[in-house]
Amino acid sequence: MAPARVLAALSLAVACMLTAAAADDTTSSSSSSPAPTGWLKANATFYGGADASDTMGGACGYGNLYSQGYGTRTAALSTALFNDGASCGQCYKIACDRKRANPMFCKPGVTVTVTATNFCPPNYALPGNNGGWCNPPRPHFDMAQPAWEKIGVYSGGIIPSCTKGAGSIKSMDVKTSNSNSWIPMARNWGANWHSLAYLTGQMLSFRLTDTDGQTIEFTNVVPQGWKFGQTFASKLQFK
Ligand SMILES: *[C@@H]1O[C@H](CO)[C@@H](O)[C@H](O)[C@H]1NC(C)=O
Repeated sequence: MAPARVLAALSLAVACMLTAAAADDTTSSSSSSPAPTGWLKANATFYGGADASDTMGGACGYGNLYSQGYGTRTAALSTALFNDGASCGQCYKIACDRKRANPMFCKPGVTVTVTATNFCPPNYALPGNNGGWCNPPRPHFDMAQPAWEKIGVYSGGIIPSCTKGAGSIKSMDVKTSNSNSWIPMARNWGANWHSLAYLTGQMLSFRLTDTDGQTIEFTNVVPQGWKFGQTFASKLQFK
């Protein structure tokens, strides 16, 4: 990962939604910051260049973020937010907080929704207010540059911001088409889950429960002839 390239003072507000991948950027009619209700504070920087080329891969295991549908709306989370990978795939709605930052660097009335795809490691050699942005206990988003530029003006900018968290994946089960019982899966790392059961040659269903307690079943989402390394999509989303 390229080092964060911005170091001035902006301000952000972050809220959270679990509408997942294809969240649209929105522009509200108001020219002020979004209402502070339910928004938590965090800071944000950007990295990765204008095409987000350095943001591919990442600690969540999503691989190529373009082919996975995340595009450039991604962010790396500091230890305080990453939650040992449980936050992978979580969506955050982020806005620049004009009350806490120089309004010059804030684009008014705009939010951007990013997906957590990476971990921003601590850098204990640097103080938290000067380079060690991702050190505990600081809540910090290191965003792909195009996402960051939706809400901030490029000329500097660690952004004091706000965040509301909910709905990362708590557990995952798999079921084969010839069985009635769900087999619990284990989180391997990031958003990668595994099962040691023999599943080859069978149609697969998955059951996901998020930290809000909502459960979704993806019935027969994987066809019988599946192979390792393939990707299967579903339109189902957590609310
Ligand atoms: C954001 O960064 C500023 C400057 O280092 C710091 O004073 C503030 O506490 C940070 N905000 C959060 C929520 O960590």
